Amino acid sequence: MLDIHFASIKDIEYIQKVDATNKTRLEKKINLKEILIMTDKEEYIWYLKFSYFWDKIPFMDLVVIEENHRSKWYWSQMIGYREDRMQKEWYKYVMTSTEAWRTAQHFYRKLWYKDIWSLLFSRFVAGEPDQELFLMKTFE
Ligand SMILES: CC(C)(COP(=O)(O)OP(=O)(O)OC[C@H]1O[C@@H](n2cnc3c(N)ncnc32)[C@H](O)[C@@H]1OP(=O)(O)O)[C@@H](O)C(=O)NCCC(=O)NCCS
Repeated sequence: MLDIHFASIKDIEYIQKVDATNKTRLEKKINLKEILIMTDKEEYIWYLKFSYFWDKIPFMDLVVIEENHRSKWYWSQMIGYREDRMQKEWYKYVMTSTEAWRTAQHFYRKLWYKDIWSLLFSRFVAGEPDQELFLMKTFE
């Protein structure tokens, strides 16, 4: 059965496989209830880590769909789930960012996210020079 829930410390092994953030930081995110996970019985399907830009605007930091579940409907279900929660809490906007070479930008645009900004990271920040795209969606 499909189940979407906030991550708990029981999920830490999986979380560390998909998210390179250090463990102490991840444990803080778990305590803050800022990581969502979808499972099917014991199997992990997707991971969504979020925060709040300026402590005000919901921001999706990292989304990962397990490889054998990609190219299905999960991408829109995952983002849709988070957006519904934010709308119910009366937020007017939601933001995200993604590296320019990744495919995630395309599905955000399909869900009516608009490009608002981009940053060019030098190799001192990102390891290799890279462009980060920022996207925002306004709830009507
Ligand atoms: C990014 C990720 C979540 C996407 O999930 P996915 O299930 O593989 O998504 P898909 O490749 O099916 O693409 C989703 C939609 O974007 C569209 N899309 C993908 N690449 C596209 C492209 N180059 N041009 C136009 N549209 C594109 C697809 O057509 C699809 O829309 P559709 O279902 O209407 O056809 C997944 O690949 C992943 O977990 N990657 C590793 C982690 C990552 O890169 N995370 C994002 C950065 S935070």
